[in-house]
Amino acid sequence: MSQYLEVSHLDYTYPDGTPALFDINVSIGEQEFVALIGQNGSGKTTLSKCMNGLFKPTSGSVIVDGIDTRGKGVVKQLVTRIGYVFQNPDHQLFNDSVQKEIAYGPRNINLSAAEVKARVDEAAKVAGVSTDLYTTHPFFLPKGLRQRVAIASILALKPRTIIVDEPTTGQDMRQSIEVMEFLESLWQAGHTIIIVTHEMSIVAHYARRVIALRQGRVLLDDTTRAVFAQPDMLRQTYVEPPQITRVAQRLDGLTPRDILTVEEMQDAFRSAVSRIEKKG
Ligand SMILES: Nc1ncnc2c1ncn2[C@@H]1O[C@H](COP(=O)(O)OP(=O)(O)OP(=O)(O)O)[C@@H](O)[C@H]1O
Ligand SMILES: [Mg+2]
Repeated sequence: MSQYLEVSHLDYTYPDGTPALFDINVSIGEQEFVALIGQNGSGKTTLSKCMNGLFKPTSGSVIVDGIDTRGKGVVKQLVTRIGYVFQNPDHQLFNDSVQKEIAYGPRNINLSAAEVKARVDEAAKVAGVSTDLYTTHPFFLPKGLRQRVAIASILALKPRTIIVDEPTTGQDMRQSIEVMEFLESLWQAGHTIIIVTHEMSIVAHYARRVIALRQGRVLLDDTTRAVFAQPDMLRQTYVEPPQITRVAQRLDGLTPRDILTVEEMQDAFRSAVSRIEKKG
């Protein structure tokens, strides 16, 4: 798999002197679905912002599709390759209408008016933002829709990689599933999706790979299944595997210890029962 995003020996210290990331080494390829996890303050948002070039490395490097984020004048090249949807969409939305908001990025990279319009309509459609809302001020939309507008404004730049910081925080179950199914469909369409989240059931259902941070360092980087199979390591960053995995880990070998979903648990129980019946 070709590596689209290469983070090498990345350190990041905020301008006020707060050190946030230490020697981060991560490679992400095409069409991956990655979850960045770790306790509050472990560096997830900082790393996301370094990945898309919003923050420049204090030392080390971040290379996106061959482009070094430290290069001069690379912003326009980066925004069409990697998009970051803010943890709080209100920090991202600043235009006075939904349509202007989604058009902002494409306009900024000097696309023609016709191309801007086409990009806006396509991104709004994909993100589930109705054209009826085009003239509405984003401020007057509910949080779920504001986040969709934020995602649409990133999609309009057609980046191959999209980072969404806490896609489900503050949303009810139905909205969370909607946004995650939407990200899954983007993944299936060929995008790399990176989510930052505290919700381990979401990670278990959608992410194929997990990068766990602890105090600004990578603690674990592996398949979702392998990461949740190491509860003792995870505990160091105050993260617990999903409940269903924890139940499996306490069943003393009745089921595998790396169960991720209720459906897998059901299958494991069925085969355990049939094993017992055969013995019986
Ligand atoms: N603007 C800032 N100036 C100085 N330090 C900051 C700033 N933003 C974050 N930090 C510090 O950097 C470290 C990493 O913070 P970051 O926001 O990346 O964590 P996080 O994993 O995203 O946390 P959360 O789960 O709460 O969103 C923390 O020590 C935090 O206090
Ligand atoms: Mg954060």
